[in-house]
Amino acid sequence: MTSHSDLFVDSGSRTRRTRMTEPIRRLVRETSLEARNFILPIFVTDEHPEAMNEIASMPGVYQYGLSTMMSLCDKAVKAKLGGVILFGVTTKKDERGTMAYSPKGIVAKAIKEIKKRFPELLVVADVCLCEYTSHGHCGIVHDHGDGKFVIENDETVELLAEEALVYAEAGADLIAPSDMMDGRVAAIREMLDENGFEALPIMSYSAKYASAFYGPFRDAAGSAPTFGDRRSHQMDPANSEEAMRVVERDVLEGADIVMIKPAMSYLDIIRRVRDQFDVPVAAYQVSGEYSMIKAAAANGWVDGDRLMMESLLSIKRAGASIILTYFALEASELL
Ligand code: PBG
Ligand code: ZN
Repeated sequence: MTSHSDLFVDSGSRTRRTRMTEPIRRLVRETSLEARNFILPIFVTDEHPEAMNEIASMPGVYQYGLSTMMSLCDKAVKAKLGGVILFGVTTKKDERGTMAYSPKGIVAKAIKEIKKRFPELLVVADVCLCEYTSHGHCGIVHDHGDGKFVIENDETVELLAEEALVYAEAGADLIAPSDMMDGRVAAIREMLDENGFEALPIMSYSAKYASAFYGPFRDAAGSAPTFGDRRSHQMDPANSEEAMRVVERDVLEGADIVMIKPAMSYLDIIRRVRDQFDVPVAAYQVSGEYSMIKAAAANGWVDGDRLMMESLLSIKRAGASIILTYFALEASELL
């Protein structure tokens, strides 16, 4: 005679039943990726309209000129991606990052061109100064003597709000401040509202960690700091409670979407934010995450396609419905 507990062991605990065939796996699958979840980062340079410079540390990723960028946007539209996010590369850097908030800056121009040709493509404008400052810092740097340099918070925030307005006027669909200064979401919200852009949403890089995973991006954008680092404003990778605090603050200041960055080493943060807040959650699979997968695949150490899809799936499963990723086009081809 079989007891109830025997039945449970022999039969009820057989979780493999729903893994045996692809049709049953498909039926019980909890998470799936869609092209609309992906935002493709694009580096646009003011060097030459026809420019297409491959980034050595990011195989398959290029700095595009205003004109070469268009064929990439065309691919993004055809793939039905969620959108693109623009990063400027400029030959005209100065101490105050003027090209970030000048209507003549490369990103302002690029937004106008893209919205003219592809009105249906969602264009996200990254707001920060580091790609445009000669010292590579995200804000205005003051020398306090004794080798002590400080990034001035409030002075920087004013310029970031100007930058956001310039991108709004150019036609951006979503404003994404990545600088990590305090109070920038509120300042940008106020600036947008005062100028008739009440309906323009903000996606805040809320929990942005001081990460070594940004290495290749700084090659791509030419934005590595010439001295010091970003630890005075980006978050300590050791902290999780603090992430809850900054997300809450950003939502109160008016962020419509919050972002966690990087993604793969911060899946726990993505999940906590998803569970605790009711706003859409984005995650940025950053340059170093992309380059690691590409490098291992190029060496034949891993299956690059499978690793790409698995990494993206893990980010979605953790709770991010929006994923900024350099794999956006490649991954959407495999869906
Ligand atoms: C700049 C910015 C960075 C990234 C996005 N916006 C880099 C940094 O903080 O140095 C990183 C993106 C990536 O690594 O792919 N504020
Ligand atoms: Zn920056």
